[in-house]
Amino acid sequence: MPKVFIKTYGCQMNERDSEQVATMFIDGGYTMTDREHEADVILINTCSVREKAELKALGKMGLLTRRPEAKPHVVYGFMGCMAQSKGDELFRALPRLDLVIGTQKYHHIFRYVDDILRKRLERRMDDLSLSLAGSSVCDTDEETGSQNAIRDHLAQTGHSSAFVSIMQGCEMRCSYCIVPSTRGAERSRPMQDIIDEVESLVRQGIKEVTLLGQIVNRYGKDEPAVDGKSAFVRLLEQLNGIDGLERIRFTSPHPIGFREDLVNAYRYLSKLCSHIHFPMQSGSDRILKLMRRPYKNEKYISLCESMREARPDLAITTDIIVGFPGETEEDYLETKRAVERIGFDNAFIFQYSPRKDTPAAAMDGQLPQSVKEARNQDLLATVNAIAIEKNAALVGTEQLILVEGPSKTNADRLSGRTPQNKPVIIEGGSELIGKIVPVRITESTGFTLYGEIAPC
Ligand code: 5AD
Ligand code: SF4
Repeated sequence: MPKVFIKTYGCQMNERDSEQVATMFIDGGYTMTDREHEADVILINTCSVREKAELKALGKMGLLTRRPEAKPHVVYGFMGCMAQSKGDELFRALPRLDLVIGTQKYHHIFRYVDDILRKRLERRMDDLSLSLAGSSVCDTDEETGSQNAIRDHLAQTGHSSAFVSIMQGCEMRCSYCIVPSTRGAERSRPMQDIIDEVESLVRQGIKEVTLLGQIVNRYGKDEPAVDGKSAFVRLLEQLNGIDGLERIRFTSPHPIGFREDLVNAYRYLSKLCSHIHFPMQSGSDRILKLMRRPYKNEKYISLCESMREARPDLAITTDIIVGFPGETEEDYLETKRAVERIGFDNAFIFQYSPRKDTPAAAMDGQLPQSVKEARNQDLLATVNAIAIEKNAALVGTEQLILVEGPSKTNADRLSGRTPQNKPVIIEGGSELIGKIVPVRITESTGFTLYGEIAPC
């Protein structure tokens, strides 16, 4: 049985896409391996959002293809956003590369790989020189309906949580972002397909789903509202009604299209978790405009306030870019003040990275690395101080934890998450995995919470 190794960089969407590709190999009679040296097929799912992510994937593939002990029949492929954006130029950088598969072509990967591998193994029987010229494949075209192909899950025991891809693509064209060109136009899956997928996951023991989309709240954007409710809110309502499903999350929404119906959903949808990851990007209106983010900071803040009014214990996390071209010290300080005012539970802070063919890469006022670094560190200190304070305030409270499995740092303990998505470490046996248990928070070491099962 041929063995496949898939390494994934980037976002949860990529994790989900890799899972789909893995299911196709398993259905085709292959097995998955997490040991690259024993693999017959090596795939790297790439991210293009920042240059660092691209360099990591290129470096990894370089190392793998140049290993002296590498078996000559091994098939090497890139998939994902960097594959989409760089296309066949990747073959020039990496002569041993066989496949470059774009973001709308994942459902063809198995066929391409299997074809190359079979030919290579057959040829090995009679030609040890393995002359394989012309066997490489680059497929980065658009394909109608490709979003509907991300729907299968690996049968995994002991998993309580799953990602479900509900839409693909982005048409927002933020001036710094490569995603619209790598992921294409916004395409949503039919609602019934998503409901069927979630019901099937629940039958396999899944308690929590996270709905994924580049702009998840624009799901079904072309469908008319029904009773003032968008297709996304109607989907949330449908999922909320599924017996056995306990928790619903989604990531990531955009302030555009974030209307009252979605804010209100936090009042009446009991399974919608008290956490939202809501990218702010900047607290300066001038920079938001240069970023082509079509909202003002006050609008963003008022949305956060409305959601907190609807769901008082809501945790809000965000993405922020520092060092965008032309960002002055005052612009940066506006971002810092917005962070303090909103009081995020946590934030991912990114240093602006110029991306191929994006308007911001050609803007005047590109900032030196030292300025990006200094703003990154300063903002991180602010974000961390707030996060630590918020976690400390949870000590003594009781939280419902969905137990996910053994803790990564100490396999004798278990780790789970609160509805606010905060990780909690508890003592307990493996029979608790996949259950929702009441836990009293006893300690916070800053970012990690510790607790003990609360008596009933
Ligand atoms: N440079 C830095 N950060 C970026 N992001 C997107 N594009 C860039 C870029 N060119 C960040 C945004 C987005 C997150 C996924 O990555 O904050 O929300
Ligand atoms: Fe990129 Fe903006 Fe689309 Fe998000 S909304 S994926 S940041 S273009």
